[in-house]
Amino acid sequence: MDVKYDVRRFRGRQQVGSKRKVRREHEDRLIDELLRDLKSHERVLEMKKYMQHGRITTFDHCESVAKLSYRINKRLHLNADEKVLLKAGMLHDFFLYDWHRDEDGTHPWHGYHHADKALENANKYFEMDEREKSVIWSHMWPLNITRFPKSKEAWIVCMADKMISCVETLFKR
Ligand SMILES: [Fe+2]
Ligand SMILES: [Fe+2]
Repeated sequence: MDVKYDVRRFRGRQQVGSKRKVRREHEDRLIDELLRDLKSHERVLEMKKYMQHGRITTFDHCESVAKLSYRINKRLHLNADEKVLLKAGMLHDFFLYDWHRDEDGTHPWHGYHHADKALENANKYFEMDEREKSVIWSHMWPLNITRFPKSKEAWIVCMADKMISCVETLFKR
């Protein structure tokens, strides 16, 4: 066996691993900075009171979707607007109620209607541009079959939401 070759390969893998770690830490810091104001907003913090999937709160779900959207864009070099991805990702489920409980019948058909409620709240508490609104509006496609995502950002958040929801539902119960 060529020992030198193996050692080089091992060192190579170590270097790739540590480069990835540094890149991820750098990205995490950047994301935290970009999301800081939004994540400390009183109404956004309210999402910590509601459970989304399994033991994951709506706040944590939204943060995961925002971060994954950012990373998909970076890794696949999609050139989407990072600020739109993070802001709309963080607010895509800003509906502010427990969707598991509907004793008073105020939010029937949650799957179909919560994007509108999230959008209503986002407009009420933040200045939203058309691209950000469109991301929230279409994030439940294809359940909301007529709401086809109309931009790169809308596609990325829509896909990131599906991936995060699957992981949360299957592995974070
Ligand atoms: Fe949603
Ligand atoms: Fe979601």
